[in-house]
Amino acid sequence: MKNINVAMNGLGSVHKTLSGILKDKQLVLKEKYDIGFNVVMISDSSGVAVNNNGFNMVEVIAHKNSGGRVSGLSEYQDKSFLDILSDTNVDLVWEASPVDFDTGGEALEIARDALNRGISVVLANKGPVVKAHGELKALSNNSGAGFKYSATVCGGLPILNIGERDMIAGDVSEFSGVFNGTCNFILDVLKNGVAFDAAVKEAQNVGAAEADPSLDIDGWDTAFKLLIIANHVMNARITLDDISVKGIMSITPEMIRAEESQGNTIKLVASFDGSTYKVEPTVVAKDTFIGSCTGWEMGIEIHSDLYGIMYHKLYEKEPVPTAASMLRDAVNIFS
Ligand SMILES: NC(=O)c1ccc[n+]([C@@H]2O[C@H](COP(=O)([O-])OP(=O)(O)OC[C@H]3O[C@@H](n4cnc5c(N)ncnc54)[C@H](OP(=O)(O)O)[C@@H]3O)[C@@H](O)[C@H]2O)c1
Repeated sequence: MKNINVAMNGLGSVHKTLSGILKDKQLVLKEKYDIGFNVVMISDSSGVAVNNNGFNMVEVIAHKNSGGRVSGLSEYQDKSFLDILSDTNVDLVWEASPVDFDTGGEALEIARDALNRGISVVLANKGPVVKAHGELKALSNNSGAGFKYSATVCGGLPILNIGERDMIAGDVSEFSGVFNGTCNFILDVLKNGVAFDAAVKEAQNVGAAEADPSLDIDGWDTAFKLLIIANHVMNARITLDDISVKGIMSITPEMIRAEESQGNTIKLVASFDGSTYKVEPTVVAKDTFIGSCTGWEMGIEIHSDLYGIMYHKLYEKEPVPTAASMLRDAVNIFS
């Protein structure tokens, strides 16, 4: 059986959930995929800890859930993640720390360093892919290390995998998608006559929006996903400057109600029409695929020359599909 030594950067909801999946699916992973994962490095905002024999992640998660921090573990080391990575036997870095879209943050440094040294990298954090997709891909090609990030686009929706693996020799002529649950949720609340700020608060109260929801509302989170799809599936090599981005701030309850009376609705739609990339609030008929993506659902409609018109939709309320996507990427790299 392959035993993969793993470093986990970040220990929030995604990696906690992934740790639970590793425990629950240990037998399936062994019997079906002949693979096991041994978490030897962990980190949170307080620092990094190392256990070359592998952490008991049930105990680590219990420690975190009771308010403990990595710096409070006996295995804590007062060194940077990168310094420890260079001294530790690690095959794979799972990266799920907060996004830094300006620079890619430490996550980008870690991805660079790991890929350079032949350590595979699986990301949930979009930052490094948005900032440096081409560079990281080249590092992976040069060193032979695996580099996957299917969780960065709509969590568990396997759109990057389908595009890469299942659309062999196909050309995407156009696509459109609803990629942001927060905007979906806010637009659904606006429909009930609630003002924009109150709709945002409601979304925050049910956990559908972050304390600072501006990246979602302004359309940037959707644009990041559009960028990743275009570059990964279509090899488009675009940057954010190539995407026209408008958020949902100007949408009012009246606008949505007027459309509803015509059998339409308004969605924040990411699209490629064959030449331009756009993110903008769009009027769509409710009985279309895009019009049917509501609440916690995300979906994409892809038109291509060889594979017809595909419709893929995912309901994801908890981070389980996102965490599972990090596992699937890792299994795909090592099996
Ligand atoms: N949640 C989802 O469904 C989802 C879906 C797709 C993609 N993602 C992406 O996945 C990533 C993680 O999401 P999440 O929901 O797990 O976030 P989260 O719950 O906020 O957890 C973030 C974790 O990163 C740690 N952290 C903060 N600064 C750090 C640093 N400098 N070095 C190392 N660790 C650091 C935090 O430490 P503390 O524990 O000390 O605060 C926390 O453990 C984000 O980039 C997010 O955009 C999430």
